[in-house]
Amino acid sequence: PVSGPFVNEPFTDFSLEENRVAMEAAIARAKASLGAEYPLRIGAERIYTAEKIVSVNPGRLGEVVGRVSKADRELAERAMQAALAGFETWKRVPARERAAVLFRAAALLRERKHDFSAAMLLESGKNYAEADADTAEAIDFLEFYAREMIRLSRINETMPLTQAPGETGELRYIPLGVGVVIPPWNFPLAICAGMTSAAVVSGNAVLLKPASATPVIAHKFAELMEEAGLPPGVINYVPGSGAEIGDYLTSHPKTRFVSFTGSKEVGLHISRLAAEAAPRQIWIKRLVAEMGGKDGIVVDETADLDAAAQAIVASAFGFQGQKCSAGSRAIVVEPVYDEIAAKVVALTKRLAVGLPERNCAIGPVIDEASYRRILAYIELGKEEGRLLAGGGPAEVGRAEGSRTEADSCDGYYIQPTVFADVDGKARLMQEEIFGPVLAIGKAKDWREAIALYNDTEFGLTGSFFSSDEGRIEEALETMHCGNLYVNRKCTGALVGAHPFGGFNLSGTDSKAGGHDYLLLFTQAKAIAVKK
Ligand code: NAD
Ligand code: ALA
Repeated sequence: PVSGPFVNEPFTDFSLEENRVAMEAAIARAKASLGAEYPLRIGAERIYTAEKIVSVNPGRLGEVVGRVSKADRELAERAMQAALAGFETWKRVPARERAAVLFRAAALLRERKHDFSAAMLLESGKNYAEADADTAEAIDFLEFYAREMIRLSRINETMPLTQAPGETGELRYIPLGVGVVIPPWNFPLAICAGMTSAAVVSGNAVLLKPASATPVIAHKFAELMEEAGLPPGVINYVPGSGAEIGDYLTSHPKTRFVSFTGSKEVGLHISRLAAEAAPRQIWIKRLVAEMGGKDGIVVDETADLDAAAQAIVASAFGFQGQKCSAGSRAIVVEPVYDEIAAKVVALTKRLAVGLPERNCAIGPVIDEASYRRILAYIELGKEEGRLLAGGGPAEVGRAEGSRTEADSCDGYYIQPTVFADVDGKARLMQEEIFGPVLAIGKAKDWREAIALYNDTEFGLTGSFFSSDEGRIEEALETMHCGNLYVNRKCTGALVGAHPFGGFNLSGTDSKAGGHDYLLLFTQAKAIAVKK
């Protein structure tokens, strides 16, 4: 059921009492299933393994969100066989029917919006608005890719081939085969749903290997797709270790494509493995790899300084800075540098740190490894810059009898931290921290600020703040990134409006949520029939 052109799912207004109450009720429901066990989903089988991934609430470490079965190589191979079988029937299902599954899934997800957001709040540490935006984006991906598949299936009507004399010619976008889908934990529903549904609506079957920090949400998504009518074997849910089953599946001769979103290190590793043709492999594997960022906001002296400071703080600290799009750098021209820094610090100090279920602005970071890595960067920042705000762990809900530094906070809480006077070549300006740490640097003028912005190995998102039309025109040309914004924050891309993907070591610029995306999961067959 396509009902008109695509529109973005509206965000919930949590300033309204009724919406807050509805979310609190959903959190209570989500808590009732804490500690539940989740099976692998391989074809029509539901397999419970002895070894489990234990998913913990990063905001309250005693709370086990779920115990998720874990695939080894043997089970990964079984899943591959199920996917190969699933592909044989699914590829013959007409595009409109495949799209109808996504439309039904979107409708179900819309009905249960707060339940999915509440589950995410417990598993990933998102606050109400961040979780709600994640769920809305997942609905958008389902709605958008369903329409896109229908559009591609009608390409010969809308964009016919030149008809050679005496022939009838057409182009068909056919699926690739079996793919491995590897999403990150930081948009545990939206990115998982987007990557998986794009591959599936194009007619492929997939092995979905969720991120180990958020496997419960991914399981809920796989379950939802089945409820929406997806046949067994099309999405095979196989949580497991990257080194064990990830490498096995990437290297598998029957893997036709790998769709990865995550860090640069893992993305490059997968790229190397996928490039090797295994014995009996008869294709070049298609790789979609979207990776990290060192995104930034450039501010010149003609900008609206209050708007710029607000955008800097929102981009740096939304979801604790754990977005590939996070504005972890601000590069400000000398005449307004001190004023911007002061405004940023004032706004940062207003951000309350605490439990996601209490809807605090800043929640926990995802796990102990992240917690330690981010705190180490903060210590480095004290050498590379001038500390203006934050600077260490946040004391939230101290638990009795706690032993380690991490559980003394009963969660992985870190203060939103701002450093000024950071040199463009400093590690804080060059490396993705993926936490609530902002580095501010000074430039003598706006052109030097853009040069500093461009001087990293990444190229995902960026913003330019100015009121000068000529400078804006030049910035549109010279700021080198996949998603460039003017006079707004550099996070919060919307499906359809801001096709998303990065340059340089940020990835293959696949433009999720854009009109070109499904082409990555199809191959075009040109057919000419002699009359
Ligand atoms: P990660 O690279 O650690 O993990 C990503 C996924 O890869 C996970 O599912 C993980 O289990 C899996 N994995 C790890 N080793 C593997 C292997 N050898 N084989 C197969 N799979 C393997 O990243 P993360 O911590 O989950 O996510 C954070 C990173 O993701 C950040 O760098 C962030 O910038 C990036 N990210 C990028 C985008 C984007 O669109 N560019 C979006 C979100 C996140
Ligand atoms: N798409 C997400 C954003 O733009 C990562 O913030």
